[in-house]
Amino acid sequence: KILILDFGSQVTQLIARRVRDAGVFSEVYPYDVSDEFIRNYGAAGIILSGGPNSVTEDETPRAPQAVFELGVPVLGICYGMQTMAAQLGGQVENGTVREFGYAEVRARGHTNLLKDIADFTTAEGHGMLKVWMSHGDKVNSMPVGFKLMASTDNCPIAGMADEERRFYAVQFHPEVTHTVQGAALLGRFVHEICGCKSDWNMPDYISEAVAAIRAQVGSDDVILGLSGGVDSSVAAALIHRAIGNQLTCVFVDHGLLRLDEGKMVMEMFAENLGVKVIRIDAAQQFMGHLAGVSDPEQKRKIIGREFVEVFQVESAKIKNAKWLAQGTIYPDVIESAGKGKKGHTIKSHHNVGGLPETLHLKLLEPLRELFKDEVRKLGVALGLPEAMVYRHPFPGPGLGVRILGEVKQDFADLLRRADAIFIEELRNTPVEGTDQNWYQATSQAFAVFLPVKSVGVMGDGRTYEYVVALRAVQTLDFMTAQWAHLPHELLGKVSNRIINEVRGINRVVYDISGKPPATIEWE
Ligand code: XMP
Repeated sequence: KILILDFGSQVTQLIARRVRDAGVFSEVYPYDVSDEFIRNYGAAGIILSGGPNSVTEDETPRAPQAVFELGVPVLGICYGMQTMAAQLGGQVENGTVREFGYAEVRARGHTNLLKDIADFTTAEGHGMLKVWMSHGDKVNSMPVGFKLMASTDNCPIAGMADEERRFYAVQFHPEVTHTVQGAALLGRFVHEICGCKSDWNMPDYISEAVAAIRAQVGSDDVILGLSGGVDSSVAAALIHRAIGNQLTCVFVDHGLLRLDEGKMVMEMFAENLGVKVIRIDAAQQFMGHLAGVSDPEQKRKIIGREFVEVFQVESAKIKNAKWLAQGTIYPDVIESAGKGKKGHTIKSHHNVGGLPETLHLKLLEPLRELFKDEVRKLGVALGLPEAMVYRHPFPGPGLGVRILGEVKQDFADLLRRADAIFIEELRNTPVEGTDQNWYQATSQAFAVFLPVKSVGVMGDGRTYEYVVALRAVQTLDFMTAQWAHLPHELLGKVSNRIINEVRGINRVVYDISGKPPATIEWE
């Protein structure tokens, strides 16, 4: 296994992720673990992550000395390279020029780490790597025993290696996908240099995670707020696998879920998996508090607050519970860590945080280290249906932010049916020339209820009814998004079906705004 020491980079977890992709087990620990910890850990190799500090300042993070005395290969990345250089007798200078983003690095292929790894070759025959750099400081003199492994114009020592001791270091970030050969480089390090086999996989992950959960909670009881979304569902399935009936899920139906969603959640968890689930039908309570409120932020706050309220009342009934489980995944961890620094709240997302402080429970977050696609694979391996695990994201406030203005029960009913028709047609329509359907080819798709009436004609009669907007977007990170170019025939069919089958809607429009300037949700 590989030990990753974290010096505080935003992308440390990505290193673990790439190592996992290479089929090797790895764990992230803070850089300041003890020498003893390092000696007892049993690592086949150690990776030192990047970090925000400068080794040129006095009190800055250092790797435990044991890292360099253990005799195992070490790879330093960015800050990890700088601290390696400083700790082994090299020198780091406070950079005057900051380098950030794309760079081309001349790779010295004479080292085992970079041998035959290159993106292209220059006219002079130098192997070049396309990489992502982010640093201010740089190493300006290598420790004794090291030779140059990579360089750029700005950063003459962009990589160094002491092959005798198997110490390697790079100034750029091999863990990010912008570094084209990053996966190859990390794969080379863990397989060939550290000698790890690719034998780590999802079933192994499940047994490790199950053991960790058991060790963490012992014989305590655990409560989990099940929303029906991917993350809380996978967390529930995993924790249930670990501790069975010590887990109680509380499923709050706020009346703003999609068509048949409540029924599906109960079937899947309570009936199929045998998970203890308490379903709370709180639709009336939510509708009551939302009556007369049309401001989007206020609606979100009310839904969030009521959710906490209901959850609190229900969980207080579970007397022995000591833990609150959450389906927090790694991107949530990063997002909330960055909160302080970000300028404006564009929208207040309600599903992270809030609960633990008021409940006095300890937090159990077994998915904290995983990325979304890993969570999905885990869900499938735990026996959740693919259709559920590969569902589009659904916001915590649910249809509450898809019914513009005041939320009313009958609006929610109309919207649920229109939305279900849209989703069904997306699932049934293949994308030409691929083996995907349009649901799979879009990142998020849904219907929005517009509380405006327009005139129509149906049969011989005039109608005066509401409008539904369809939204379908493609995105990688949900920060920016393109509207999906759905085929006109598909849109036409959806429109016909909604207008014919959902009495109360006589007009369907398609949203062709990108994000930015629009957001994905309408509120
Ligand atoms: P926007 O509308 O901001 O949405 O472009 C980006 C992504 O976030 C989801 N979203 C939410 N998710 N609670 C959530 O759990 C919320 O309050 C919330 N608001 C937006 C949205 O569905 C999209 O995937």
